[in-house]
Amino acid sequence: MAELAPTKTSASLRSLAALPGPPGLPLLGNLLQLDLEHLHLVLERWCEQYGDLCSFRIGPTRLLIVAEPEALRRVLLDRPERFRRLHTMEEVARELGMHGLFSAEGDDWKRQRKLILPAFKEENLARAFPVLGTITERLLTLLSREAARGEPIDVLHHLMRYTVDIMAAVAFGRDMNTLERGADELQRHFETIFPMLLRRVNAPFPYWRYLKLPVDRALDRAIMSAREILTPVVDQARSELAKTNQARSELAGANPETAHRTLLHAMLAAADDTMADGVAKLTNEEILANVFTLLLAGEDTTANTLAWMFYFLAGHGDAQAKVRAEADSVLGASPTLPRFEDAPKLRALGAAAHETLRLKSPAPFVSLEAASDAVIADVHVPKGTPVFVMTRRVAMRPDNFAEPERFQLERWLADDAGVTRDKLRASLPFGAGPRVCPGRQLALLECGLLLSAVVKRFELSLPAGLVVGERFDFAMEPEGLRVLLRERS
Ligand code: HEM
Repeated sequence: MAELAPTKTSASLRSLAALPGPPGLPLLGNLLQLDLEHLHLVLERWCEQYGDLCSFRIGPTRLLIVAEPEALRRVLLDRPERFRRLHTMEEVARELGMHGLFSAEGDDWKRQRKLILPAFKEENLARAFPVLGTITERLLTLLSREAARGEPIDVLHHLMRYTVDIMAAVAFGRDMNTLERGADELQRHFETIFPMLLRRVNAPFPYWRYLKLPVDRALDRAIMSAREILTPVVDQARSELAKTNQARSELAGANPETAHRTLLHAMLAAADDTMADGVAKLTNEEILANVFTLLLAGEDTTANTLAWMFYFLAGHGDAQAKVRAEADSVLGASPTLPRFEDAPKLRALGAAAHETLRLKSPAPFVSLEAASDAVIADVHVPKGTPVFVMTRRVAMRPDNFAEPERFQLERWLADDAGVTRDKLRASLPFGAGPRVCPGRQLALLECGLLLSAVVKRFELSLPAGLVVGERFDFAMEPEGLRVLLRERS
């Protein structure tokens, strides 16, 4: 059992059933109150009504909701030993051949994290930077065409394709150009796979192991086809790497650029390098699963963050003017950010990204499970208990952020770096602790790169009377968002 605070004995601990929570039906508990498309709002409302440590029931299972800041941090830090992702995530990802860093647990996760993290080094992002610029210019051209029509634009639709193109380029060097060509074959398979993954993780019973519905058969076909497309991509990267390594050993000083051309190359290279330390390298199957994982984890999350940034900047003229003045100065005559090294100069845009992620994180909570019997605050949490870690709720506390509902760049622009560090500790859109999101730098780079180019080129505004809701669909997305763009003269 997790260590108890010195003053607490087992007898003084509360049970999950003793926690406050919403009343439910005798057999089903609160099942019918769980509106999956707005799950985060339901959980946040229960915190509001029953406190930041509360519980609910689905059938016989008690689930815990944690929004009390210190308890929440401890849960996120205490991984992988005491808390893990939902076991259904691991099972479903394994069945689908997508069991990579996100779903791995225990020693398997430690090994994968050690091997994969080097792929996210700044130098690899810098190498990918020119292609990100090209893809960004494509999106500008497309938005410019749409803006000329003078109609409100469904920006999320374009941003989904933008982040697909970016992730495919950064992950395995493939120019899918879904922005101009529409969804390509691989993307169409993902559009089938990702919603089904969520559906299965949340299913109360794994019916598909006994009976395949048409959607399950479509999923099997999509997985098989996606694997057929991605397997040769992995094989090719492996053989490119082998050739470069051979060239390097034959000719000292051969150009290592090709070796780490993409996240995939970097993953393969890191996997091979660590062999020397006795760490088993990633198998082909694991590399493939991680290509799926990166695409899954990096697309919708970033697209929705970008969409929410459009929303806030369009709705806040003062913030928009500030980031535009900065973009004009940093970008100069270039339509997009000229050099990777210039990204840190976009301070106001960085603030806009942090503030957007604080208010509208695409991951407003993290779903975990107790990996062993544990204690959270003064509550005994039996092994296997699902634990919802409400990160956004902490970022909306007035003691962390005054007037928390307001979108305010200034909170992130204090001269005293310490103030900003405190804010970063309170706003955790990328999670925290050993499993913090490894893609956060890439995501923030995309925010700076795209929005600096957009505000430099367009004036943004919201159509009159627009109401934008929040919908939870793997990532939390803006429902009904439309933005007006007017080309600057
Ligand atoms: C704004 C965009 C993004 C947000 C808000 C976001 C958020 C998150 C969150 C909340 C987690 C769980 C962290 C935890 O358990 O403590 C996570 C994990 C992860 N993210 Fe991201 N993410 C974003 C973009 C990306 C990108 C671009 C990539 C890849 C290129 C990525 C790859 C991953 C992976 C592989 C994990 C699993 C890490 C592990 O379990 O060790 N994410 N992300």
